Amino acid sequence: MNTVRAIYPGSFDPPTNGHLDLIARGSRIFDHLVVAVLHNADKAQPLFHTQERVEMLRETTREFDNVSVETFDGLLVEFARQQRAQAVLRGIRAISDYEYEFQMALMNRRLAPELETVFMMPAEKYSYVSSRLIQQVFHLGGSVEGLVPPVVLERMRKRSAQIK
Ligand code: PNS
Repeated sequence: MNTVRAIYPGSFDPPTNGHLDLIARGSRIFDHLVVAVLHNADKAQPLFHTQERVEMLRETTREFDNVSVETFDGLLVEFARQQRAQAVLRGIRAISDYEYEFQMALMNRRLAPELETVFMMPAEKYSYVSSRLIQQVFHLGGSVEGLVPPVVLERMRKRSAQIK
């Protein structure tokens, strides 16, 4: 039987409800979805270490039998080959996402013509939610409740207590 494995790559720092919404949609379309957390060793100040992001994603995706969570570094297309994935899943929230996503999709196609990029839209209620904005609001003391899963909120609160 022809099964389709897809990769959903990202920084996920932190994972948001928008990411979770996309994972749920992807898990319905693909036979297996690998959530791939970029291990970006040189990023100056991540909110969470790669392993913490993996733990949070594993916890919040436990209900999906066909979803796994891995880390990767280097080229995404190489990781996709290792995973024998046929597709890359990316979320598009607004037109502003399009340019960057278009460039990445075409570069990845050049590097690995056999790999298709598939775009999906998250629920409208998450269309403005990004990890970058979540981090910013959190650092300035605003509430991000309802925008990130409860386990992520809990870890953010703990992180905030450690920083103070
Ligand atoms: O959540 P993000 O930060 O928008 O995810 C970006 C990500 C991780 C998908 C992208 O930076 C990536 O694929 N990095 C791996 C390095 C790579 O393959 N770069 C060339 C992509 S065209």
